[in-house]
Amino acid sequence: MQRITMLGAGLIGMFYTMSLHGRRSRDRVEVVYSRTAERARNFANEWGIPRHTDQLAEAINDPDTDVVVVALPNHLHEEAVTLAAEAGKAVFCTKPLGRNAAEARRMLEVVERTGVYHAYLEDLVYTPKTLKALKAVQSGSVGKVLWVRSRETHPGPHSDWFWNRELSGGGAIIDLGCHCVEIARNFIGKEIRPLEVSCWADTQVHPIDAEDHAVGLVRYENGAIGQFEVSWAFRGGMDLRDEVAGTEGTIWLNHWMRTGMELYTAVGEAGYVAEKADSDKGWLFPVGDEPGALGYHDMFADALDCLEQGREPMESFYDGYVVNAIIDAAYESARSKQWSPVELPTWRGKSNVESLSVARDFDDDHLLIKSERMPDGSEKLILRHKQSGEVSQRIVRK
Ligand SMILES: NC(=O)c1ccc[n+]([C@@H]2O[C@H](COP(=O)([O-])OP(=O)(O)OC[C@H]3O[C@@H](n4cnc5c(N)ncnc54)[C@H](O)[C@@H]3O)[C@@H](O)[C@H]2O)c1
Repeated sequence: MQRITMLGAGLIGMFYTMSLHGRRSRDRVEVVYSRTAERARNFANEWGIPRHTDQLAEAINDPDTDVVVVALPNHLHEEAVTLAAEAGKAVFCTKPLGRNAAEARRMLEVVERTGVYHAYLEDLVYTPKTLKALKAVQSGSVGKVLWVRSRETHPGPHSDWFWNRELSGGGAIIDLGCHCVEIARNFIGKEIRPLEVSCWADTQVHPIDAEDHAVGLVRYENGAIGQFEVSWAFRGGMDLRDEVAGTEGTIWLNHWMRTGMELYTAVGEAGYVAEKADSDKGWLFPVGDEPGALGYHDMFADALDCLEQGREPMESFYDGYVVNAIIDAAYESARSKQWSPVELPTWRGKSNVESLSVARDFDDDHLLIKSERMPDGSEKLILRHKQSGEVSQRIVRK
Protein backbone atom coordinates (compact mmCIF):
# COMPACT_ATOMS: atom_id res chain seq x y z
CA MET A 1 0.00 0.00 0.00
CA GLN A 2 1.23 3.50 -0.78
CA ARG A 3 0.11 6.69 0.95
CA ILE A 4 0.11 9.55 -1.49
CA THR A 5 0.29 13.34 -1.52
CA MET A 6 -1.66 14.69 -4.51
CA LEU A 7 -0.44 18.11 -5.65
CA GLY A 8 -3.19 19.67 -7.75
CA ALA A 9 -6.92 19.27 -7.70
CA GLY A 10 -7.62 20.07 -11.33
CA LEU A 11 -8.53 17.86 -14.27
CA ILE A 12 -5.55 15.56 -14.03
CA GLY A 13 -5.54 15.46 -10.23
CA MET A 14 -9.11 14.23 -10.53
CA PHE A 15 -8.29 11.53 -13.13
CA TYR A 16 -5.25 10.39 -11.13
CA THR A 17 -7.24 10.14 -7.88
CA MET A 18 -10.07 8.35 -9.68
CA SER A 19 -7.56 5.81 -10.98
CA LEU A 20 -5.60 5.43 -7.71
CA HIS A 21 -8.78 4.95 -5.65
CA GLY A 22 -10.53 2.85 -8.29
CA ARG A 23 -11.25 -0.87 -8.24
CA ARG A 24 -10.92 -1.24 -4.41
CA SER A 25 -7.31 -0.10 -4.66
CA ARG A 26 -5.13 -0.37 -1.56
CA ASP A 27 -3.29 2.85 -2.47
CA ARG A 28 -4.79 6.01 -1.03
CA VAL A 29 -4.41 9.74 -1.50
CA GLU A 30 -3.91 10.92 2.09
CA VAL A 31 -3.51 14.65 1.48
CA VAL A 32 -4.40 16.95 -1.40
CA TYR A 33 -2.99 20.40 -2.18
CA SER A 34 -4.80 22.98 -4.26
CA ARG A 35 -4.17 26.70 -4.72
CA THR A 36 -7.28 27.66 -2.79
CA ALA A 37 -8.35 26.12 0.50
CA GLU A 38 -11.93 25.84 -0.73
CA ARG A 39 -11.01 23.80 -3.81
CA ALA A 40 -8.72 21.58 -1.72
CA ARG A 41 -11.52 20.96 0.80
CA ASN A 42 -14.13 20.21 -1.87
CA PHE A 43 -11.78 17.81 -3.67
CA ALA A 44 -10.92 16.06 -0.39
CA ASN A 45 -14.61 15.64 0.43
CA GLU A 46 -15.42 14.34 -3.04
CA TRP A 47 -12.68 11.70 -3.03
CA GLY A 48 -12.62 10.71 0.64
CA ILE A 49 -9.17 12.22 1.28
CA PRO A 50 -8.47 12.72 4.99
CA ARG A 51 -6.36 15.91 4.79
CA HIS A 52 -6.23 18.96 2.53
CA THR A 53 -4.23 22.17 2.37
CA ASP A 54 -3.44 25.23 0.26
CA GLN A 55 0.23 25.06 1.35
CA LEU A 56 2.47 23.22 -1.13
CA ALA A 57 5.31 22.44 1.31
CA GLU A 58 2.89 21.24 3.98
CA ALA A 59 1.37 18.71 1.57
CA ILE A 60 4.78 17.48 0.41
CA ASN A 61 6.19 17.18 3.94
CA ASP A 62 3.10 15.42 5.31
CA PRO A 63 4.63 12.86 7.71
CA ASP A 64 2.21 10.13 6.70
CA THR A 65 2.84 10.01 2.94
CA ASP A 66 5.62 8.29 0.99
CA VAL A 67 4.80 9.25 -2.61
CA VAL A 68 4.23 12.72 -4.09
CA VAL A 69 2.25 13.02 -7.32
CA VAL A 70 2.84 16.31 -9.15
CA ALA A 71 -0.36 17.26 -11.02
CA LEU A 72 0.27 21.01 -11.15
CA PRO A 73 0.61 23.50 -14.01
CA ASN A 74 3.88 23.14 -15.90
CA HIS A 75 5.65 26.14 -14.30
CA LEU A 76 5.31 24.54 -10.86
CA HIS A 77 6.75 21.10 -11.69
CA GLU A 78 10.36 21.95 -10.87
CA GLU A 79 9.60 23.54 -7.51
CA ALA A 80 7.34 20.64 -6.49
CA VAL A 81 9.77 17.94 -7.68
CA THR A 82 12.68 19.61 -5.88
CA LEU A 83 10.77 19.89 -2.59
CA ALA A 84 9.58 16.27 -2.84
CA ALA A 85 13.06 14.93 -3.65
CA GLU A 86 14.60 16.91 -0.80
CA ALA A 87 11.94 15.47 1.52
CA GLY A 88 13.19 12.02 0.44
CA LYS A 89 9.88 10.98 -1.10
CA ALA A 90 9.20 9.02 -4.26
CA VAL A 91 8.06 11.50 -6.88
CA PHE A 92 5.76 10.96 -9.85
CA CYS A 93 5.43 13.90 -12.25
CA THR A 94 2.84 14.48 -14.94
CA LYS A 95 3.75 15.46 -18.51
CA PRO A 96 5.54 17.51 -19.75
CA LEU A 97 8.33 17.03 -17.22
CA GLY A 98 9.65 20.57 -17.78
CA ARG A 99 8.79 23.61 -19.85
CA ASN A 100 12.12 22.94 -21.59
CA ALA A 101 15.04 20.52 -21.41
CA ALA A 102 17.07 22.68 -19.02
CA GLU A 103 14.27 22.52 -16.46
CA ALA A 104 13.75 18.79 -17.05
CA ARG A 105 17.47 18.10 -16.67
CA ARG A 106 17.57 19.90 -13.32
CA MET A 107 14.62 17.76 -12.18
CA LEU A 108 16.41 14.61 -13.32
CA GLU A 109 19.54 15.74 -11.46
CA VAL A 110 17.72 16.42 -8.20
CA VAL A 111 15.95 13.02 -8.10
CA GLU A 112 19.20 11.24 -8.94
CA ARG A 113 21.27 13.24 -6.46
CA THR A 114 18.81 12.58 -3.63
CA GLY A 115 18.34 8.98 -4.76
CA VAL A 116 14.54 9.06 -4.68
CA TYR A 117 12.39 6.86 -6.91
CA HIS A 118 10.88 8.74 -9.87
CA ALA A 119 8.27 8.04 -12.52
CA TYR A 120 7.21 10.16 -15.49
CA LEU A 121 3.44 10.00 -15.78
CA GLU A 122 3.14 9.62 -19.57
CA ASP A 123 -0.23 7.88 -19.64
CA LEU A 124 -0.62 7.50 -23.39
CA VAL A 125 2.12 4.89 -23.72
CA TYR A 126 0.15 2.80 -21.22
CA THR A 127 -3.23 2.65 -22.95
CA PRO A 128 -4.31 -1.00 -23.23
CA LYS A 129 -4.10 -0.76 -27.03
CA THR A 130 -0.63 0.81 -26.95
CA LEU A 131 0.70 -1.83 -24.55
CA LYS A 132 -0.63 -4.55 -26.85
CA ALA A 133 0.83 -2.82 -29.91
CA LEU A 134 4.21 -2.39 -28.19
CA LYS A 135 4.27 -6.12 -27.43
CA ALA A 136 3.58 -6.86 -31.09
CA VAL A 137 6.40 -4.57 -32.17
CA GLN A 138 8.82 -5.97 -29.60
CA SER A 139 8.08 -9.53 -30.72
CA GLY A 140 8.91 -8.56 -34.31
CA SER A 141 5.39 -8.71 -35.78
CA VAL A 142 5.87 -5.59 -37.89
CA GLY A 143 9.59 -6.04 -38.58
CA LYS A 144 11.74 -2.96 -38.24
CA VAL A 145 9.83 0.20 -37.36
CA LEU A 146 10.29 2.79 -40.10
CA TRP A 147 7.72 5.49 -39.33
CA VAL A 148 5.48 6.27 -36.38
CA ARG A 149 2.77 8.83 -36.76
CA SER A 150 1.06 10.09 -33.60
CA ARG A 151 -1.75 12.61 -33.46
CA GLU A 152 -3.39 14.46 -30.60
CA THR A 153 -5.75 17.22 -31.57
CA HIS A 154 -8.68 18.83 -29.75
CA PRO A 155 -10.36 22.23 -29.47
CA GLY A 156 -7.89 23.48 -26.84
CA PRO A 157 -7.20 23.12 -23.10
CA HIS A 158 -9.55 23.84 -20.26
CA SER A 159 -7.56 26.24 -18.00
CA ASP A 160 -6.11 29.72 -18.46
CA TRP A 161 -2.48 28.86 -17.60
CA PHE A 162 -2.13 26.48 -20.61
CA TRP A 163 -2.69 29.45 -22.93
CA ASN A 164 0.06 31.52 -21.26
CA ARG A 165 3.37 30.65 -22.90
CA GLU A 166 5.41 31.73 -19.88
CA LEU A 167 3.57 29.36 -17.56
CA SER A 168 3.14 26.40 -19.90
CA GLY A 169 6.37 26.61 -21.94
CA GLY A 170 4.57 26.78 -25.30
CA GLY A 171 1.35 25.79 -27.00
CA ALA A 172 0.08 22.61 -28.60
CA ILE A 173 3.61 21.22 -29.09
CA ILE A 174 4.60 21.19 -25.43
CA ASP A 175 1.09 20.25 -24.27
CA LEU A 176 0.20 17.51 -26.77
CA GLY A 177 3.39 16.90 -28.71
CA CYS A 178 5.07 15.55 -25.57
CA HIS A 179 2.66 12.57 -25.72
CA CYS A 180 3.20 12.00 -29.45
CA VAL A 181 6.99 12.20 -29.19
CA GLU A 182 7.11 9.64 -26.38
CA ILE A 183 4.68 7.29 -28.14
CA ALA A 184 6.96 7.33 -31.19
CA ARG A 185 10.09 6.77 -29.04
CA ASN A 186 8.49 3.73 -27.47
CA PHE A 187 7.71 2.16 -30.84
CA ILE A 188 11.01 3.10 -32.49
CA GLY A 189 13.03 2.03 -29.44
CA LYS A 190 14.06 4.33 -26.63
CA GLU A 191 17.67 3.29 -27.02
CA ILE A 192 17.78 4.87 -30.52
CA ARG A 193 19.04 8.42 -30.44
CA PRO A 194 16.80 11.20 -31.80
CA LEU A 195 19.05 13.33 -33.99
CA GLU A 196 17.11 16.23 -35.44
CA VAL A 197 13.67 17.77 -35.86
CA SER A 198 11.87 19.59 -38.65
CA CYS A 199 8.72 21.35 -37.54
CA TRP A 200 6.05 23.67 -38.85
CA ALA A 201 4.05 25.53 -36.22
CA ASP A 202 1.60 28.41 -36.45
CA THR A 203 -1.06 30.27 -34.52
CA GLN A 204 -3.96 29.75 -36.87
CA VAL A 205 -7.00 30.57 -34.79
CA HIS A 206 -6.55 31.76 -31.21
CA PRO A 207 -5.39 35.19 -29.97
CA ILE A 208 -2.35 33.77 -28.14
CA ASP A 209 1.45 34.04 -28.37
CA ALA A 210 2.04 30.28 -28.63
CA GLU A 211 1.28 27.89 -31.51
CA ASP A 212 -2.16 26.28 -31.73
CA HIS A 213 -1.22 23.86 -34.53
CA ALA A 214 1.99 22.05 -35.48
CA VAL A 215 3.34 19.13 -37.47
CA GLY A 216 6.85 17.81 -36.91
CA LEU A 217 9.27 15.10 -37.97
CA VAL A 218 11.83 13.62 -35.60
CA ARG A 219 14.67 11.77 -37.33
CA TYR A 220 16.33 8.95 -35.40
CA GLU A 221 19.89 7.64 -35.80
CA ASN A 222 18.78 4.37 -37.44
CA GLY A 223 16.76 6.28 -40.08
CA ALA A 224 13.33 5.86 -38.44
CA ILE A 225 10.97 8.84 -38.42
CA GLY A 226 8.58 9.92 -35.69
CA GLN A 227 5.84 12.26 -36.87
CA PHE A 228 3.74 14.35 -34.52
CA GLU A 229 0.55 16.17 -35.43
CA VAL A 230 -0.94 18.41 -32.75
CA SER A 231 -3.65 21.01 -32.66
CA TRP A 232 -5.66 23.14 -30.23
CA ALA A 233 -7.89 24.21 -33.13
CA PHE A 234 -9.37 20.84 -34.13
CA ARG A 235 -13.17 20.53 -34.03
CA GLY A 236 -15.07 17.37 -33.25
CA GLY A 237 -13.58 16.17 -29.95
CA MET A 238 -10.21 14.68 -29.04
CA ASP A 239 -8.55 12.83 -31.89
CA LEU A 240 -5.97 10.43 -30.47
CA ARG A 241 -4.53 8.20 -33.17
CA ASP A 242 -1.26 6.41 -33.76
CA GLU A 243 0.14 4.52 -36.71
CA VAL A 244 3.19 2.29 -36.86
CA ALA A 245 4.68 1.37 -40.23
CA GLY A 246 7.25 -1.42 -40.19
CA THR A 247 9.14 -3.41 -42.80
CA GLU A 248 6.82 -6.39 -42.23
CA GLY A 249 3.61 -4.90 -40.94
CA THR A 250 1.43 -1.99 -39.91
CA ILE A 251 -0.55 -1.01 -36.81
CA TRP A 252 -3.33 1.58 -36.63
CA LEU A 253 -4.62 2.70 -33.25
CA ASN A 254 -7.62 4.90 -32.51
CA HIS A 255 -7.95 5.70 -28.81
CA TRP A 256 -10.84 8.04 -28.37
CA MET A 257 -13.40 8.46 -31.16
CA ARG A 258 -15.14 5.74 -33.16
CA THR A 259 -13.63 3.10 -30.93
CA GLY A 260 -16.75 0.97 -30.58
CA MET A 261 -19.38 3.04 -28.78
CA GLU A 262 -21.34 5.54 -30.81
CA LEU A 263 -24.45 7.25 -29.47
CA TYR A 264 -26.84 9.50 -31.39
CA THR A 265 -28.96 11.94 -29.45
CA ALA A 266 -31.32 14.53 -30.90
CA VAL A 267 -31.99 16.04 -27.47
CA GLY A 268 -28.47 16.02 -26.08
CA GLU A 269 -26.58 14.23 -23.30
CA ALA A 270 -27.10 17.23 -20.99
CA GLY A 271 -23.61 17.27 -19.56
CA TYR A 272 -20.21 15.65 -19.79
CA VAL A 273 -19.71 13.12 -22.60
CA ALA A 274 -15.96 12.43 -22.67
CA GLU A 275 -12.80 14.52 -22.28
CA LYS A 276 -12.74 17.37 -24.82
CA ALA A 277 -15.97 16.22 -26.52
CA ASP A 278 -16.93 19.15 -28.74
CA SER A 279 -20.70 18.69 -28.49
CA ASP A 280 -23.33 16.89 -26.42
CA LYS A 281 -25.78 16.47 -29.32
CA GLY A 282 -25.87 14.41 -32.50
CA TRP A 283 -23.43 11.53 -32.91
CA LEU A 284 -21.32 11.18 -29.76
CA PHE A 285 -18.40 8.95 -28.80
CA PRO A 286 -18.69 8.24 -25.07
CA VAL A 287 -15.93 6.26 -23.36
CA GLY A 288 -16.85 3.49 -20.90
CA ASP A 289 -13.78 3.67 -18.68
CA GLU A 290 -11.98 6.95 -19.32
CA PRO A 291 -9.07 6.47 -16.87
CA GLY A 292 -8.54 2.96 -18.24
CA ALA A 293 -8.73 3.97 -21.90
CA LEU A 294 -6.26 6.81 -21.31
CA GLY A 295 -3.77 4.49 -19.64
CA TYR A 296 -3.94 5.81 -16.07
CA HIS A 297 -4.66 2.40 -14.47
CA ASP A 298 -1.74 0.61 -16.12
CA MET A 299 0.51 3.63 -15.61
CA PHE A 300 -0.03 3.74 -11.84
CA ALA A 301 0.15 -0.06 -11.58
CA ASP A 302 3.58 0.03 -13.27
CA ALA A 303 4.87 3.06 -11.33
CA LEU A 304 3.72 1.68 -7.94
CA ASP A 305 4.72 -1.97 -8.58
CA CYS A 306 8.20 -0.87 -9.67
CA LEU A 307 8.53 1.35 -6.61
CA GLU A 308 7.69 -1.58 -4.33
CA GLN A 309 9.86 -4.06 -6.23
CA GLY A 310 12.89 -1.77 -6.65
CA ARG A 311 12.68 -1.70 -10.46
CA GLU A 312 12.68 1.16 -12.99
CA PRO A 313 9.24 2.03 -14.35
CA MET A 314 8.57 2.03 -18.07
CA GLU A 315 8.70 5.86 -17.98
CA SER A 316 11.25 7.69 -15.83
CA PHE A 317 12.35 11.31 -15.49
CA TYR A 318 15.10 10.50 -18.00
CA ASP A 319 12.41 9.85 -20.62
CA GLY A 320 10.73 13.13 -19.73
CA TYR A 321 14.06 14.89 -20.22
CA VAL A 322 14.60 13.35 -23.68
CA VAL A 323 11.07 14.38 -24.69
CA ASN A 324 11.76 17.96 -23.60
CA ALA A 325 15.02 17.99 -25.59
CA ILE A 326 13.14 16.88 -28.74
CA ILE A 327 10.50 19.54 -28.15
CA ASP A 328 13.14 22.25 -27.70
CA ALA A 329 14.51 21.25 -31.13
CA ALA A 330 10.97 21.39 -32.59
CA TYR A 331 10.52 24.96 -31.37
CA GLU A 332 13.91 25.95 -32.74
CA SER A 333 13.08 24.36 -36.11
CA ALA A 334 9.70 26.09 -36.30
CA ARG A 335 11.48 29.39 -35.64
CA SER A 336 14.45 28.88 -38.01
CA LYS A 337 12.56 26.87 -40.68
CA GLN A 338 15.57 24.47 -40.73
CA TRP A 339 16.19 20.99 -39.33
CA SER A 340 17.36 21.49 -35.73
CA PRO A 341 19.66 19.15 -33.79
CA VAL A 342 18.35 17.50 -30.62
CA GLU A 343 20.76 18.61 -27.88
CA LEU A 344 21.22 15.70 -25.47
CA PRO A 345 24.37 16.19 -23.40
CA THR A 346 23.06 13.41 -21.16
CA TRP A 347 22.45 10.48 -23.56
CA ARG A 348 22.09 6.99 -22.08
CA GLY A 349 20.98 5.03 -25.11
CA LYS A 350 23.00 3.38 -27.88
CA SER A 351 25.46 5.11 -30.19
CA ASN A 352 26.40 4.32 -33.80
CA VAL A 353 23.45 2.03 -34.41
CA GLU A 354 22.93 0.28 -37.74
CA SER A 355 20.67 1.76 -40.38
CA LEU A 356 17.23 0.18 -40.76
CA SER A 357 17.68 -0.63 -44.43
CA VAL A 358 17.16 -4.29 -45.27
CA ALA A 359 18.57 -5.64 -48.52
CA ARG A 360 17.17 -9.08 -49.41
CA ASP A 361 19.11 -11.41 -51.71
CA PHE A 362 17.10 -12.82 -54.61
CA ASP A 363 19.94 -14.85 -56.09
CA ASP A 364 23.73 -14.58 -56.35
CA ASP A 365 23.51 -11.62 -58.73
CA HIS A 366 20.34 -9.78 -57.66
CA LEU A 367 18.69 -8.09 -54.72
CA LEU A 368 14.90 -8.20 -54.47
CA ILE A 369 13.27 -4.76 -54.47
CA LYS A 370 9.70 -6.09 -54.31
CA SER A 371 7.30 -8.75 -55.52
CA GLU A 372 3.63 -8.29 -56.37
CA ARG A 373 0.77 -10.60 -57.36
CA MET A 374 -0.80 -9.20 -60.55
CA PRO A 375 -4.48 -9.40 -61.65
CA ASP A 376 -3.70 -12.26 -64.08
CA GLY A 377 -2.25 -14.35 -61.23
CA SER A 378 1.36 -13.91 -62.21
CA GLU A 379 4.00 -12.70 -59.78
CA LYS A 380 6.06 -9.71 -60.80
CA LEU A 381 9.53 -9.38 -59.30
CA ILE A 382 11.47 -6.12 -59.31
CA LEU A 383 15.21 -6.81 -59.05
CA ARG A 384 18.43 -4.83 -58.77
CA HIS A 385 21.69 -6.18 -60.14
CA LYS A 386 24.29 -6.27 -57.35
CA GLN A 387 27.21 -5.08 -59.50
CA SER A 388 25.70 -2.81 -62.14
CA GLY A 389 22.79 -1.47 -60.06
CA GLU A 390 20.48 -2.04 -63.04
CA VAL A 391 16.79 -2.39 -62.11
CA SER A 392 14.79 -5.01 -64.03
CA GLN A 393 11.57 -6.99 -63.73
CA ARG A 394 10.68 -10.64 -64.10
CA ILE A 395 7.27 -12.18 -64.48
CA VAL A 396 6.76 -15.58 -62.92
CA ARG A 397 3.68 -17.50 -64.12
CA LYS A 398 2.37 -20.50 -62.24
N1 LIG B 1 -2.98 13.10 -20.05
C1 LIG B 1 -2.23 13.72 -19.17
O1 LIG B 1 -1.24 13.16 -18.74
C2 LIG B 1 -2.57 15.08 -18.71
C3 LIG B 1 -3.84 15.63 -18.98
C4 LIG B 1 -4.13 16.92 -18.52
C5 LIG B 1 -3.17 17.65 -17.84
N2 LIG B 1 -1.93 17.11 -17.62
C6 LIG B 1 -0.88 17.86 -16.93
O2 LIG B 1 -1.24 18.03 -15.56
C7 LIG B 1 -0.83 19.28 -15.08
C8 LIG B 1 -2.05 20.03 -14.51
O3 LIG B 1 -3.03 20.15 -15.54
P1 LIG B 1 -4.59 20.18 -15.22
O4 LIG B 1 -5.27 19.92 -16.50
O5 LIG B 1 -4.93 19.33 -14.07
O6 LIG B 1 -4.73 21.72 -14.82
P2 LIG B 1 -5.94 22.39 -14.06
O7 LIG B 1 -5.90 23.84 -14.39
O8 LIG B 1 -7.20 21.62 -14.29
O9 LIG B 1 -5.56 22.21 -12.50
C9 LIG B 1 -4.43 22.84 -11.94
C10 LIG B 1 -4.34 22.61 -10.45
O10 LIG B 1 -3.15 23.24 -9.96
C11 LIG B 1 -3.48 24.19 -8.93
N3 LIG B 1 -2.63 25.37 -9.00
C12 LIG B 1 -1.69 25.68 -8.11
N4 LIG B 1 -1.07 26.80 -8.44
C13 LIG B 1 -1.59 27.22 -9.59
C14 LIG B 1 -1.33 28.32 -10.43
N5 LIG B 1 -0.39 29.23 -10.13
N6 LIG B 1 -2.07 28.43 -11.54
C15 LIG B 1 -3.01 27.51 -11.86
N7 LIG B 1 -3.29 26.42 -11.09
C16 LIG B 1 -2.57 26.30 -9.95
C17 LIG B 1 -4.93 24.52 -9.19
O11 LIG B 1 -5.51 24.98 -7.99
C18 LIG B 1 -5.47 23.17 -9.64
O12 LIG B 1 -5.70 22.36 -8.50
C19 LIG B 1 -0.14 19.99 -16.25
O13 LIG B 1 1.24 19.79 -16.19
C20 LIG B 1 -0.70 19.27 -17.48
O14 LIG B 1 0.18 19.29 -18.59
C21 LIG B 1 -1.63 15.83 -18.00
